[in-house]
Amino acid sequence: MSSRLSPIDTAKFVAAKRACDFVEDGMRVGLGTGSTAAWLVRCLGEMVKDDGLRITGVPTSTRTAELARQVGIKVATLDEAKWLDVTIDGADEFDDELNLIKGGGGALLQEKIVATASDRMVVIADKSKQVQTLGAFPLPVEVVPFGWQTTKALVEETLAALDVLGDTGTLRMTGDTAFVTDEGNYILDLHLNRIGNARQLALVINQIPGIVENGLFIDICDVVVIGHGDGRVEVKDVNTGVTQQDKIDFVDTDNLFRDLGE
Ligand code: 5RP
Repeated sequence: MSSRLSPIDTAKFVAAKRACDFVEDGMRVGLGTGSTAAWLVRCLGEMVKDDGLRITGVPTSTRTAELARQVGIKVATLDEAKWLDVTIDGADEFDDELNLIKGGGGALLQEKIVATASDRMVVIADKSKQVQTLGAFPLPVEVVPFGWQTTKALVEETLAALDVLGDTGTLRMTGDTAFVTDEGNYILDLHLNRIGNARQLALVINQIPGIVENGLFIDICDVVVIGHGDGRVEVKDVNTGVTQQDKIDFVDTDNLFRDLGE
């Protein structure tokens, strides 16, 4: 077991490492965004270099594309790959039905398009992301910049009539300026505290003009790999209802653990 990794990084790493078992030679693989997904990209890069694994990676953000190229993964666009065997990505929250909140890293639009275009979506997460009810993590919603304040007001008005415990949105900022997504849009973070009916919310929010997409992933995720700080992993498959327990033993070799960008 590594002594250099914190328990949270260990949890993220072992989840990512175990998720590599879902990747086979020749596959087209959706590559998620965020700190957990960055571990995955690094692990897959090792497999490409050391084991001769041949995969095509479809990144969900410019950040992930850059990292994938750095570690030697062949990168393609979704239009080039067309359909994917598996997408592996992180999440901000997941519930027992494997419904998710995503978009903490601002990449929810590409993440949702890529995951939906995959035979299987595998989420990798540390245990802290598991919740009974979604909504403690602010729900990211991508909006077009034109008229965003009006869109925000309409969203808040709509939320007041829905089964949530909060109805305010805040514009995501980077310092003094609005955060801009890879598609040139803004992100509203909706402070809902508790989402009573995630399926209804996801449908209703997307009807508002100016909304591009929301960070609720309903019926998209098939498997979650939950990492723990002591190296244990749980692999829960929502389709079979089976949960497997595993333990990942590893040594922190220089290549994999050096200069992690995320
Ligand atoms: C990016 C995402 C990430 O997957 C999510 O925010 C989790 O990130 P991390 O693995 O860093 O906790 O949805 O848009």
